Amino acid sequence: MTQFNEADLTAAVVKSFENAPNPRARFLLQELVKSLHDYVRKTGLTFEEWEYAIDFLTRTGQMCTPIRQEFILLSDVLGVSMLVDAVNHREREGATQTTVLGPFYVGDHKQMAHGADISPHNETGEKMFVQSRVTDIKGNPLAGVPVDIWHADDDGFYDSQKPSYATHGPTSRARFVTDADGRFYFRTILPCSYPIPTDGPVGEMIMQTKRHPMRPAHVHFLVNARGYEPLITHVFIDGDKYLDSDVVFGVKDDLIAKIEKRSDPKMPDGKDAAAPWHLMTYEFHLKPGGGNAPKPMAARASEGA
Ligand code: BEZ
Ligand code: FE
Repeated sequence: MTQFNEADLTAAVVKSFENAPNPRARFLLQELVKSLHDYVRKTGLTFEEWEYAIDFLTRTGQMCTPIRQEFILLSDVLGVSMLVDAVNHREREGATQTTVLGPFYVGDHKQMAHGADISPHNETGEKMFVQSRVTDIKGNPLAGVPVDIWHADDDGFYDSQKPSYATHGPTSRARFVTDADGRFYFRTILPCSYPIPTDGPVGEMIMQTKRHPMRPAHVHFLVNARGYEPLITHVFIDGDKYLDSDVVFGVKDDLIAKIEKRSDPKMPDGKDAAAPWHLMTYEFHLKPGGGNAPKPMAARASEGA
């Protein structure tokens, strides 16, 4: 019969994973046990607190659906997503900065023709033209690269958060493929800052701890070129009042774009504009490498991944 004290209990659990055949899994599990045990010892965690934590995590899981990911949200608001991003992108000389994927990379990203309006049914938002280009770190254009785009509407909600998603499908969400010069461009509406979902356990924690739930306005981009690291990023709108206090800690200076207010009668592709409109110009520079880009959440769920 073995009786453990506080310290050798940790050693015993660490040892219990010794025969795990995958060395990386063994290392990750052993380090996790050490960190969790340290946390319990350091805080003197009570039974009530431990039960609360179990219940919180249970509710977090129960909130998840094929298009709602409360665990990603939890990782985001605890800064874990940005930390994983940081340790995996230490060298980015010349390449565009990365940031969180977030929980709204869901559903269909239908390929659209350059210039298409990805928010055609939105009648309240201010029009925005986005012009962009994908290059390598030396500035050479990358052609034929799929770029997924998604952003919140001017009401602060993503398509997948609204009842109309089931009937009308995606909006403010699309895929463009770069032309021979690495360019792509499209019409949409100017997104606004928005709160992360506060109707679940993560939002509850944010509100109860007196943090604010806001993210500064942005457009998400996932650029996935063969032979290059997939780029997960977003472009923030300069001047937003939440740039310094993003609830998920995702802002980087290089990702803030000045949006020009325009009143010209034509947009850059020569087509008529209903003035006034906004112009976002931003280039993406990819780092050579590989890796798999994440798939939209519903696709992952249907594959059983
Ligand atoms: C987003 O930008 O869509 C997002 C990122 C993290 C948490 C919530 C939303
Ligand atoms: Fe977002």
